[in-house]
Amino acid sequence: MKALKGLVLIGIAISGALTASVPGVNYTEQPMDTGVTREYWLELTDMIVAPDGVPRRAMAVNGSIPGPTLFADWGDTLKVHVTNKLTTSLNGTSIHFHGIRQNYTSSADGVTSITQCPLAVGQSTTYTWKALQYGSTWYHSHFGLQAWEGVFGGIIINGPATANYDEDLGVTFLNDWDHETADAMYPAAQHGAPTLDNGLINGTNVYGADGSSSQTGSRFNVRFQAGTSYRLRLVNAAIDTHFKFSIDDHTIKVIASDLVPIQPYETTVLNIGMGQRYDIIITADQARKAENFWMRAIPQVACSLNSNPDNIKGIVYYGRRPRTPSTIGYDFVDSCDDETDIIVPYISKVVSPAKWNKLEVATGAANSAGLFRWLLNSTTMVVDWRKPTLQAVIDDNVNYAAQEAIIELDEANKWVYFMLETTFPAAHPIHLHEGFALQFIERKSEIAATVSRSEEERLNKICKGWDKFQNALGIVQDDSGV
Ligand SMILES: *[C@@H]1O[C@H](CO)[C@@H](O)[C@H](O)[C@H]1NC(C)=O
Ligand SMILES: *[C@@H]1O[C@H](CO)[C@@H](O)[C@H](O)[C@H]1NC(C)=O
Ligand SMILES: *[C@@H]1O[C@H](CO)[C@@H](O)[C@H](O)[C@H]1NC(C)=O
Ligand SMILES: *[C@@H]1O[C@H](CO)[C@@H](O)[C@H](O)[C@H]1NC(C)=O
Ligand SMILES: *[C@@H]1O[C@H](CO)[C@@H](O)[C@H](O)[C@H]1NC(C)=O
Ligand SMILES: *[C@@H]1O[C@H](CO)[C@@H](O)[C@H](O)[C@H]1NC(C)=O
Repeated sequence: MKALKGLVLIGIAISGALTASVPGVNYTEQPMDTGVTREYWLELTDMIVAPDGVPRRAMAVNGSIPGPTLFADWGDTLKVHVTNKLTTSLNGTSIHFHGIRQNYTSSADGVTSITQCPLAVGQSTTYTWKALQYGSTWYHSHFGLQAWEGVFGGIIINGPATANYDEDLGVTFLNDWDHETADAMYPAAQHGAPTLDNGLINGTNVYGADGSSSQTGSRFNVRFQAGTSYRLRLVNAAIDTHFKFSIDDHTIKVIASDLVPIQPYETTVLNIGMGQRYDIIITADQARKAENFWMRAIPQVACSLNSNPDNIKGIVYYGRRPRTPSTIGYDFVDSCDDETDIIVPYISKVVSPAKWNKLEVATGAANSAGLFRWLLNSTTMVVDWRKPTLQAVIDDNVNYAAQEAIIELDEANKWVYFMLETTFPAAHPIHLHEGFALQFIERKSEIAATVSRSEEERLNKICKGWDKFQNALGIVQDDSGV
């Protein structure tokens, strides 16, 4: 791995003036309301899956990986009913709606230890939130390593787009994949990241070389009609892989990034880091060149190792059925780069000068037990499953432990700049508002009032159920809790 001195600049929007005036796309301030409520029922089960032909244990939503896509229109209210039927693994759960703005609905964010206790086996709960953004994202479990055992699916919120296209092909997940479960690999992984066996494109791939009789599984493929333009909604749902995505000979037009509509730009190889989403448009304009083209998700060695780096591929075909392509991939330089430098949001925000700055040093080190931990501002994050931070805020119990890694932002309507600096030789994406390393509490004094009585009761019920479950089974929390 090469040494890297990364500097990540993040602006946390508490409020900001908007400049551009583009009717219909002003999602940041416009209180869209269709009056429509959409309900979804999701059931989590343990199962055996073989997405690349090799069977292993996994956890899935409604029996599939990826789980069902949640569709909504901009301004709809979603009610997502979740039932934990993980009766074999006896795992708790929570479902997080990644990147979704929870405007006065923070209790529906679905992050264990932060906004709720884990949902015990046999229990159900309902998350209610309004789609105030539009575009593509995903939901996933926020309990232990469960998201990477298969508990995730897409979210599509219909709304305006910054470029036209003919057909919507839906979400397309990029995953890394191993023949052992993430939970089974966890003990060894705490001494260093393992080399994963394979990767998946929208939940499927082959394992073994083309032409070999021992090849198992099947490739993801998609049929193109010459002259048609297609929207794909890419999501990198990997546990430890930065991908470069491309379709041989085709150009990618990028129109949105992480639920932010952007000025369209074109590229041939798209960087997509863990948790990121890109909405792209591909025009089927290469029919004269060949009938079959490789779609490639290439793991970047600079970030992590994979045993099958050249064979995480799907097929784009113009003919009647897919055949093994003979096209050549675009050149690229292996790296964990981000698209950030190229991205220009469609609706810009004017950010006022910094209110305050602090230097947060991100690093990684072995703890006293010799196990690897990430540290931010000298602490790794550990929050008790049974004491979610939101509950502490509602109860006005402010004695946070240092390991809760809380940063309080109490002043309203101010921009706050955070600079995270690392000299640690590994690129690492930082995801705000939750995650392993830090959490922000904005305007604590106003939070309690935003949680309705019925939501408080819902959260209490989850905690009661979990408390009983954890005690009865003697479950020991052995991770951050998030
Ligand atoms: C967005 O909508 C808000 C509220 O309607 C308005 O104040 C603001 O000027 C709008 N911004 C843009 C970019 O249209
Ligand atoms: C967020 O919620 C507040 C309080 O209900 C409301 O006034 C505001 O319009 C909402 N924002 C959007 C974008 O809907
Ligand atoms: C998921 O499964 C449940 C239970 O079988 C079913 O009621 C529901 O309709 C399914 N949801 C989706 C989105 O397919
Ligand atoms: C979740 O299930 C996995 C797979 O059975 C198991 O290894 C892990 O210990 C469970 N985690 C918890 C916290 O129950
Ligand atoms: C990927 O899988 C999801 C869930 O099954 C599905 O909704 C979506 O259409 C698939 N994407 C493509 C491009 O086929
Ligand atoms: C970093 O940790 C120090 C010592 O615990 C603390 O004083 C400081 O406020 C922390 N930084 C932030 C941004 O919270």
